[in-house]
Amino acid sequence: MCGIFGYANYNVDRSRGQIIDTLVEGLTKLEYRGYDSAGIGIDGENDFDENSPVREIALYRQVGKVSKLKEEIINHHPDISEMFHNHVGIAHTRWATHGGVTQANCHPQPSDDNNEFIVVHNGIITNYRELKTFLKGEGFTFRSDTDTEVIAKLFKYYYDKDQDLEFYQLAKEVLYQLQGSYGLLIKSVRYPNEMIATRKGSPLLIGVKTEQKLKVDFVDVEFINDDVKDSSSNGAIRTHPPKNTMAIRKSESRAILPDFSKPIEFFVSSDASAVVEHTKKVLFLEDDDIAHIDNGELHIHRARRSASTSTTRPVHTLEMQLAEIMKGGFDHFMLKEIFEQPDSTFNTMRGRINFNKKTVTLGGVKDYLITIRHSRRYLMVACGTSYHSCMAVRPLFEELTGIPVTVELASDFLDRAPPVFRDDTCLFVSQSGETADSMQALRYCKSAGALNLGIVNTVGSSISRETDCGVHINAGPEIGVASTKAYTSQFIALVMLALQISSNVIDNRARAEEIINGLKDIPAMIGKVLSKKAHIKEICHEYLTGKESMLVIGRGYQYASALEGALKIKEISYIHAEGVQAGELKHGVLALVDENMPIIAFATRDSLSPKVNSAIQQVTARDGRPVIICSEGEKMIDKSKTSAIIEVPTTVDCLQGLVNIIPLQMMGYYLSVEAGNNPDRPRNLAKSVTVE
Ligand code: AGP
Repeated sequence: MCGIFGYANYNVDRSRGQIIDTLVEGLTKLEYRGYDSAGIGIDGENDFDENSPVREIALYRQVGKVSKLKEEIINHHPDISEMFHNHVGIAHTRWATHGGVTQANCHPQPSDDNNEFIVVHNGIITNYRELKTFLKGEGFTFRSDTDTEVIAKLFKYYYDKDQDLEFYQLAKEVLYQLQGSYGLLIKSVRYPNEMIATRKGSPLLIGVKTEQKLKVDFVDVEFINDDVKDSSSNGAIRTHPPKNTMAIRKSESRAILPDFSKPIEFFVSSDASAVVEHTKKVLFLEDDDIAHIDNGELHIHRARRSASTSTTRPVHTLEMQLAEIMKGGFDHFMLKEIFEQPDSTFNTMRGRINFNKKTVTLGGVKDYLITIRHSRRYLMVACGTSYHSCMAVRPLFEELTGIPVTVELASDFLDRAPPVFRDDTCLFVSQSGETADSMQALRYCKSAGALNLGIVNTVGSSISRETDCGVHINAGPEIGVASTKAYTSQFIALVMLALQISSNVIDNRARAEEIINGLKDIPAMIGKVLSKKAHIKEICHEYLTGKESMLVIGRGYQYASALEGALKIKEISYIHAEGVQAGELKHGVLALVDENMPIIAFATRDSLSPKVNSAIQQVTARDGRPVIICSEGEKMIDKSKTSAIIEVPTTVDCLQGLVNIIPLQMMGYYLSVEAGNNPDRPRNLAKSVTVE
């Protein structure tokens, strides 16, 4: 989820201050992606060494918001008036995956203390440990915990071996060693005023801004014939590609400008939102492209011609406006975030679950595990959707830890001001990390001396800072007021926490392995339910649109699904929806049931199925015709007494709620749109309720 931005000006006079502002402004356009630190790399004020007129590289990096980076730059008092006729700068917003949120882990990552090469990276290098071991063996010392640092050092390693290489050839040598995903920008004192941009699995685009009419509306791809060996399986350093590369001469490549001496600026980014305000002329790099910006020229190289690779990269004219780009082509942020859940749930687990060893490691709580395991009680405190994620995992917490769990609505908890003890562990679950009720409850528990743990999405938020320890759910920023991907990621984070807390209980091993195996398939299962969007939209239109009220029924693990599903519907379609514990029907709710009352019932297979089926019969006996969410291939349901059936994949009972909530999220969205509402900004509500 990191953000990348690069800016190159050629034959365009820009002051250091203007270059800094352009880079920082580019980062602010990437803030919506979520991040925890930021940095830029530009030409410094002194020569790199007395033997060459080449400027050193100045790095400015800081944890926290981009505003903190600006302060860091100002505190260094750079000469913002110096003009540059020809310059490249690179910038980055970091969402921590490898290594904590520290200044040393910020990008750009340098090759050495002299910043010979600097790199910004979006993605994960999966063989970085092997590469780090190799480079340490070659005498390199590492300053950060990031995977990215190995890339910067590989550039220096290969440059020191052959200083005649062109920048793009050097890049090719380095990329042969990398496994995993990356979007990279590289700047170097060895290649002044040049930039390399390359990608594999992470997006990169290049905006071209010039007064000149582009000579051609594409850029040639220049192939270099190498009989390159494929990446070795063990991630070790591989042999160099043969030197006898036959590159198309630069002059042969059809330039996009009639005259290289003309002014031109390039804006390179992982996200069009950072480019579109400067130019709408953009080209999108493909995996394994190596874009080389060199003194006003843009060349695209590839190591090898592959059938799927076209020989040109068209320059597109972006028609979308900034807001549309940030929505990724979806009509609303909420829909984008619903459809992000295969990725966001994967990101929540990434680097924390070893699916081969069946282990969970949550770095943010491991130092407190003993205290947590010896707690007298777990107190989960939250609001709204976050409260429902606690309800979803409470049964599993009790099962795996054997410790009593109470789940509290923060506002009610504060009203009661109940006893809290030093041997309580209090969990505060919050997407924003700023909800006032939850914050007040945290301070109440802190004053009682309890251990406080945060499950938060927003890095650097008040709750994440004021709790003793915690887990960032890594769902990426959630813009829509109605919480969707945060719910499923909070759910998974809490499941992982329960697994880690109870990992010392031998009797849990089989159950823990079953759950870990189940978690691995969750992203794909969510994706499968998302593929039913047309069916779900049709059900909304046929049976639910325009109703005054509806019931959402669930039991056991699915009671939380009923509560959360009802909240999704009511808060953005404005149809009253009530989440009902199926066992409570006969205690009053049945009075509401007739042929006109829309009912949604969770009936996926688990140990409570007989009781759930009984509840459904209570409803159908009174002419209720529920929409039923059931397991794929379910035969027990009398379809003649339902309005509709939505079949979902079956997973482990305690994880089923992750799959079951998806249809309800989509129903909330489609009902809202049918009602003519704005799902992203429902009336009367705010994304973060920072007032009590
Ligand atoms: C849920 O869709 C709502 N946006 C709201 O209930 C939200 O979950 C609640 O305000 C808690 O917010 P938090 O997770 O940021 O603390």
